[in-house]
Amino acid sequence: MSLLAGKKALVTGVINDLSIAWGIAKNLAHHGATLGFAYQPNPKIERRCRACVEQLTPRPVFVEPCDVARDDEVKRLMAHWKEVHQDLDILVHSIAFAPATALGVPLIKTARADFLTAVDISAYSLIALCREAEPLFRPGGSVMALSYHGAVAYYPHYNVMGVAKAALECIVRYLAAELGGGRRPDARRVRVNAISAGPIPTLASKAVGDIDRMVEHYGEKSCLGRTVDQNEVGRTAVFLASDLASGVTGETIFVDAGYHFIGW
Ligand SMILES: NC(=O)c1ccc[n+]([C@@H]2O[C@H](COP(=O)([O-])OP(=O)(O)OC[C@H]3O[C@@H](n4cnc5c(N)ncnc54)[C@H](O)[C@@H]3O)[C@@H](O)[C@H]2O)c1
Repeated sequence: MSLLAGKKALVTGVINDLSIAWGIAKNLAHHGATLGFAYQPNPKIERRCRACVEQLTPRPVFVEPCDVARDDEVKRLMAHWKEVHQDLDILVHSIAFAPATALGVPLIKTARADFLTAVDISAYSLIALCREAEPLFRPGGSVMALSYHGAVAYYPHYNVMGVAKAALECIVRYLAAELGGGRRPDARRVRVNAISAGPIPTLASKAVGDIDRMVEHYGEKSCLGRTVDQNEVGRTAVFLASDLASGVTGETIFVDAGYHFIGW
């Protein structure tokens, strides 16, 4: 029996076959989940996302645009999901963005507008997606978001993204409490977690900068003498999405080859 048989998953953040979201999607599909995708509206991104999705068998029917900075688009996405798939078990948030003017700029020089954009798209969007998805979740649903160690430690080039990831991890804990339902007898017991991945070359990480040096550094310092890849993140996503993780919520799980606790 496949771990995720009968479960329906909506995956955001596939822009090409290097995307962490694509590593997650392939692994969810491998374990039997029915997949749907939401891509950032842009003809080039749509083409690239569809080129990935077409590799899956059976081919997902739900491949829809959604700019997560827009509440109306998030609402429309979830309403459309309801029409096509009725309900939802797994929601993957694999989205981050900061304006180019904020990347490589020390935090102290970050413009207010750039800060707000970075936190809006990289962190607030999880709240927006969960708000619209909440009524669709079946009992035991699982939400996951992608984070990075820059949320809790200083990385010279990460700057505003570190602040956005700290917000994201905090949002994960608050949403875990709210969607878990506590003592409410009618609660759907949806779990919300973050995966904090080690550095992986992707479009987003190349935009942040220094990715090759980071990968090299993890090779020197991490317990396993390397960084991780998209499939390793994907397999952790399968665990979080499955009933194997039925008692795990509000956590940030590191998939970083054992880097984050090394002091020397
Ligand atoms: N690559 C790494 O080293 C690394 C490490 C830890 C965490 N992460 C996180 O993983 C997640 C995925 O990033 P990735 O590295 O796979 O890069 P990626 O470039 O493949 O994915 C980023 C995605 O965000 C989407 N996006 C940006 N703005 C959007 C918007 N307004 N609406 C909808 N979608 C939007 C892009 O279209 C893209 O699909 C991000 O949250 C990133 O911070 C990446």
